[in-house]
Amino acid sequence: MRRKIVAGNWKMNLTFQQARELALRLNTWVKAHKPIAEIIVAPPHLYLEQINKDLRNSTITVASQNVSAMPNGAFTGDVSAEQLLSIGTKISIVGHSERRAYHYEQDKYIGKKITHLYEHGMSPILCVGEKLEDREQGKHFDVVEEQVTIALERQDPENLKKNLIVAYEPVWAIGTGKTATPDQAQEMHAFIRKTIGNQHGLSVANRTTILYGGSVNAGNARDLFEQYDIDGALVGGASLNLDDFTTIISARK
Ligand code: 13P
Repeated sequence: MRRKIVAGNWKMNLTFQQARELALRLNTWVKAHKPIAEIIVAPPHLYLEQINKDLRNSTITVASQNVSAMPNGAFTGDVSAEQLLSIGTKISIVGHSERRAYHYEQDKYIGKKITHLYEHGMSPILCVGEKLEDREQGKHFDVVEEQVTIALERQDPENLKKNLIVAYEPVWAIGTGKTATPDQAQEMHAFIRKTIGNQHGLSVANRTTILYGGSVNAGNARDLFEQYDIDGALVGGASLNLDDFTTIISARK
């Protein structure tokens, strides 16, 4: 029922040529190995159109790393859901902790992005996760509950039922080499599912794909994927290396 997904967030890495090469090599691997997991890659905006074309006959889905909270107009440097869709992009990451930290994005604003995606029949990958100090103060469940609840509060349950991916990415585990233990991650994933269930009902909660992100690598993916509520991974650094990324994909049975 729940989708199994391994997604690569390339962040602000790779030149155009390197990105195309990685996408094409990944596609060759996928064709040969036919993995169980659905695969998503999120290149920088600038490369989306070409990589979409390069992967036209592929099972890999190309996502954007961000989308505007506004529908159109005078928002210099922003890219709207409609514009993304017009070049064939159907999924967007929203609320990544790097957007929250460096661009001061907040939950209500992130919720608007999700609404625009749904208006165009697109899917969000909603990122949530607590900072180290939140966990140290025992506030991690409260923080994540608020992030999930506010971002989803105005969404139509029918859209949520069809298309909702959440990524739990504890900020202290991103790019640090420090992963949440499988137990810590499972505990939070189960809590996120419960929170969505309380807010929107069990049929939404049971269909929501919840990915773990934060220093996922070729060595720790299998143990994470064995947890009941971990449906897949959102991978940063390790998604830039074909061998590492494909090892993670293969671990998602
Ligand atoms: P790392 O895998 O590099 O820790 O990044 C995780 C992440 O932020 C994915 O969105």
